[in-house]
Amino acid sequence: MIIRKSQAELGKMRRSGLLVYQVLHSVAEMVSEGVTTMELENAAAKMIADAGARPAFKGYYSAAAGNRYPFVLCTSVNEQIVHGMPSTKNPLKKGDVISIDTGVQLDGYFGDSAITVPVGEISASLQHLLDVTKNSLEMAIDKVREGNRLFDICSTVQKYVETNGYSIVREFVGHGIGTALHEEPQVPNYVDKNNENPRLKEGMVLAIEPMVNLGKPASKVLSDRWTAVTQDGSASAHFEHCVAVTKDGPWVLTRP
Ligand code: MF3
Ligand code: CO
Repeated sequence: MIIRKSQAELGKMRRSGLLVYQVLHSVAEMVSEGVTTMELENAAAKMIADAGARPAFKGYYSAAAGNRYPFVLCTSVNEQIVHGMPSTKNPLKKGDVISIDTGVQLDGYFGDSAITVPVGEISASLQHLLDVTKNSLEMAIDKVREGNRLFDICSTVQKYVETNGYSIVREFVGHGIGTALHEEPQVPNYVDKNNENPRLKEGMVLAIEPMVNLGKPASKVLSDRWTAVTQDGSASAHFEHCVAVTKDGPWVLTRP
């Protein structure tokens, strides 16, 4: 069942969304050569606590991992796709790309967003991967309109990414969001004809999160049980926003 939100509920999700935006962008400003992902984690944890919110990822139980995620941020560097764990080792290097993903729960309602940012100067090919992934999310956001269907979002991302010669990760997908971090429906970044294709209705909120690989689509999970990486070692990019369906069109809750 897809849970639709009232105006009052969307107002609460907006507050969560703006906090997520502030955390992500403050942490992104800290990204530079020599910084460790644990420094980013510690800054994010403090901001979320100071705002009186609860970090959405810390303590999140995954049946696939068989345990609870231990951090506030996911920090996924280069060939890491999603769910990379902050570490005091391996400081960031010039030319890296890092996906920073975080979520909060405030007054009962969740927000969830991710950005991928460069560490210093990056190659033109990596910059193009980031641009295409971000554009695919923007194009998907524009499909979040009453009367459209879920597949309009999925097919928009897939066509644009694949036309640009990149590949879509299959094993991880976007999701509905509200009083739970993950609600129905699943929001894949590709069209799967076996899935349902619900009509989008006012009050639905979708977390759309394209995960795009420079090389082949296949992923695997490392022995830490969380970090998803590309099998071919190619770089991967990830952007995410929470978007509400309103009478006036798409409302991106996770940016001003
Ligand atoms: N943005 C991701 C998601 O919505 C991050 C989840 S990390 C986890 O699934 F730890 F919470 F699983
Ligand atoms: Co998400």
